[in-house]
Amino acid sequence: MVNIAIFASGSGSNFERIVRAKMSGEADGYIIKLLIVDKEDAFAVERAKMLGVKYRVVNPKDFISKKEFELNIIEILKQEIVDYIVLAGYMRIISSTLLNEYTHKIINIHPAYLPEFPGKDGIKDAFDAKVKQTGITIHFVDNGIDTGEIIYQERLKIDSNWNLNDLRKEIHNIEHKIYPIVLTRLFKKGENR
Ligand code: GAR
Repeated sequence: MVNIAIFASGSGSNFERIVRAKMSGEADGYIIKLLIVDKEDAFAVERAKMLGVKYRVVNPKDFISKKEFELNIIEILKQEIVDYIVLAGYMRIISSTLLNEYTHKIINIHPAYLPEFPGKDGIKDAFDAKVKQTGITIHFVDNGIDTGEIIYQERLKIDSNWNLNDLRKEIHNIEHKIYPIVLTRLFKKGENR
């Protein structure tokens, strides 16, 4: 079993799915030690309260630099004996401070088929580009923007009748279905090594 911390900045629907999949036995191989959010008003916090998951708000504005901010996060992760970081809508770039501490141990989900549409809003970028297909990617985080080693990808055909919200919904459905499963596969495989 690996200990994970989930990082989120917003709604936290992926966070909730990862927690619920573990609770129901659909997912395995990981223990959710805590949620870390970088915004006080992130709805993910409400979900953590509802699910009974420990959470910490670490606001970058409370620190003099990104380095200090991430050092504080590392301190929390060490206290909780966290092995892996799972990003679920964490909208901040991870710098070398945290990356060096958790090399190849930070996983991200991105709502596009990388290297297509990296960045902040991969769903809207794909929609605006009027492409026929997009997808989702789960990958390790490295020092680039959405460039790390790919763990899993899935394609999604874009129906020409969909509006942007329809596309968001379809992408989220895939994310919710596969993130806990991919994490299970990854961590169980690690156990068998
Ligand atoms: C998800 O669609 C995730 O792929 C995306 O943010 C959303 C968070 O939703 N992440 C990124 O765009 C990272 N570049 P959630 O808060 O409901 O899980």
